[in-house]
Amino acid sequence: MSQDVTRRKIEHVTVALGHDLTAPQAAAWGDIRLMHQALPEVDLDEIDTGADFLGHHLRAPIFISSLTGGHAEVAVINARLARAAERFGLAMGVGSQRAALVDPALAATYAVVREQAPTAFLIANIGAPQLIPQAHKAPFTLDDARRAVAMIQADALAVHLNYLQEAAQPEGDRKARGVLAALGAITAGVGVPVLAKETGAGISREQALKLRQAGVAAIDVGGAGGSSMAAMEAVRAAERGDTQAHAVGEVYRDWGIPTPISVVEASVAELPLIATGGVRTGLDAARALALGATLVGVGFPMLKAASQGDDAVDAFITGFLNELRVALQLTGAANLAALRAAPVIIGGATRDWLELRGFAAQVRAFARR
Ligand SMILES: Cc1cc2nc3c(=O)[nH]c(=O)nc-3n(C[C@H](O)[C@H](O)[C@H](O)COP(=O)(O)O)c2cc1C
Repeated sequence: MSQDVTRRKIEHVTVALGHDLTAPQAAAWGDIRLMHQALPEVDLDEIDTGADFLGHHLRAPIFISSLTGGHAEVAVINARLARAAERFGLAMGVGSQRAALVDPALAATYAVVREQAPTAFLIANIGAPQLIPQAHKAPFTLDDARRAVAMIQADALAVHLNYLQEAAQPEGDRKARGVLAALGAITAGVGVPVLAKETGAGISREQALKLRQAGVAAIDVGGAGGSSMAAMEAVRAAERGDTQAHAVGEVYRDWGIPTPISVVEASVAELPLIATGGVRTGLDAARALALGATLVGVGFPMLKAASQGDDAVDAFITGFLNELRVALQLTGAANLAALRAAPVIIGGATRDWLELRGFAAQVRAFARR
């Protein structure tokens, strides 16, 4: 079983780098418009992109998303991303640590992030489905969660919610009853703040409130519109000749709550939010932050850059931050707090969705602030 998990880790990276896994979405960042200010009265180079997250100050509101670890060949990706997190003052996650919990010999492929990023805000990662008994598998315990945190000396733990991915995985975990209670036991006892992290299907208002009750400290909405874990599993299934799992992955490729909508839905929980899923430019980031996100999460573009080298990661982050600063200047915002108070015009399918879901007053308030 430990060999299956470690093989899956390298397959995920290879599949993501070799295929377009983007989920098609009608409702997306183009529906979120920021108001241009022709006289911004803010110099570009005085803009402060600093953000506070769970008691830690980040120099920019970026979370290098939970991506990898668990195979010797991906340790270099984690090392490059960690060096960038340290240099730019960002938060960073590692991929699911299940592989190293099952086979401690793989711990170094995760622990490398703390070696390379001694002061960065690092986020450990385990899966919610693995917190309850699955077919032929005992659940992870509170002690396992603590080991995941200790492995990278993490500042927080992300518990990922990925039932769509599991459904499209030939070997996926299918049981879900009792997950919320199991999550509650982790938040109560693990000793660091816990984030609930969707992985491409988004968080609704109702689920956000449940997560808050379970004691999570923050929510990564992981909405639809970026890398699709269903599409990733569809490729793996096809390579294995598993036509049923392939079909599930393809049929559900664009399932879920688009990221901008999920930011508004999840905001009812009044917790710090990370907007992940299809954030590709500094302008996308500005839109998410204006909608109320505390940070944005970036997955695939970071993975791609890290597969090329440290310079590529630097170039990507530098360009992204530059784009973000331009958005702040053009909205007359000297910092992220000012951006969060700037008018936002929500249109298209995003507006339809939000109005139908009872957020009409909020949509109007965004435009008039
Ligand atoms: C190759 C790959 C592996 C991933 N592995 C994990 C994981 O182990 N744990 C997790 O929480 N999310 C995982 N994710 C999901 C990402 O953290 C992120 O939510 C997703 O890629 C959407 O962001 P993006 O559109 O910017 O890529 C993975 C994504 C990719 C592309």
